[in-house]
Amino acid sequence: MNNKAPESVEVPFEVRIDRVYKSFQEGREQVLKGVSLDLPRGKLTYILGSSGAGKSVLLKHILGLLSPDRGHVWVSGQNVSELSRSELTQFRLRFGMLFQNSALFDDMTVFENVAFPLVEHTEMPRSKIRTQVESTLNLLGMKGGYDKFPSELSGGMRKRVGLARAIIREPSILLYDEPTTGLDPITRRTVDELIDQLKRELKLTSIVISHDIPSALLLADHIAFLDQGRILFSGTPEEFRQSPHPVIQSFIDAERRFVELFQDQGAR
Ligand SMILES: Nc1ncnc2c1ncn2[C@@H]1O[C@H](COP(=O)(O)OP(=O)(O)OP(=O)(O)O)[C@@H](O)[C@H]1O
Ligand SMILES: [Mg+2]
Repeated sequence: MNNKAPESVEVPFEVRIDRVYKSFQEGREQVLKGVSLDLPRGKLTYILGSSGAGKSVLLKHILGLLSPDRGHVWVSGQNVSELSRSELTQFRLRFGMLFQNSALFDDMTVFENVAFPLVEHTEMPRSKIRTQVESTLNLLGMKGGYDKFPSELSGGMRKRVGLARAIIREPSILLYDEPTTGLDPITRRTVDELIDQLKRELKLTSIVISHDIPSALLLADHIAFLDQGRILFSGTPEEFRQSPHPVIQSFIDAERRFVELFQDQGAR
């Protein structure tokens, strides 16, 4: 696939979140409390944090689905809140997104699912669509079975199809929403390998929202930890592992215990 660098190569950050505040219910529920975070271009950033920390709300700001009460979100040098409705529609095409449940269309085949963004958003001729869909599925290790329906696929295969659909239009930013949550350990590792492969081969700016610490430590270039609407940590996986912060240490311990419990049950 041909993923050219975006025009503004001189900017080292694909996404810059600058002192963002967001509250709901007329200020009664403060969710983001001055979040600043830079996401480096072409790198893989994991955003970790407990349930309710504000990860999804932050993600929605990056996509322009929510706008900040205060502060700014810059994506590829554009101030997201200043985009008009039609600019936002164009802007969102820059993103590829893998949803937690893969969000495949159950009544469409594998081929149709992956072709969908091209059929919907481009004038590409059928023959070119076929080549592109097949080469993308091949890249992700699916050599056949394109006529199958999602219900006939394993969890790992569904992720491959979801990922193929997310990258088919050659986005510049790839967002993963809890890509390994609820998967068995083997499928988790398959998904990790896919994330790693795409990072290396396409050099996309990738953002993973997750609780999966082993995956983050293994794959991330950069980890940010969000807690109660604030960034408690931003740095390398090694720095994260060694962070003395008690909240981070207890998060790491709790997740480790959870994974061990899951593995014990799986082994029975
Ligand atoms: N549209 C909304 N209106 C009101 N409150 C909201 C809205 N969206 C999110 N919230 C609140 O913001 C807080 C953070 O939610 P968010 O979904 O970002 O958490 P999260 O970190 O993604 O959690 P999880 O790991 O469970 O997905 C929650 O208390 C939630 O109830
Ligand atoms: Mg969430």
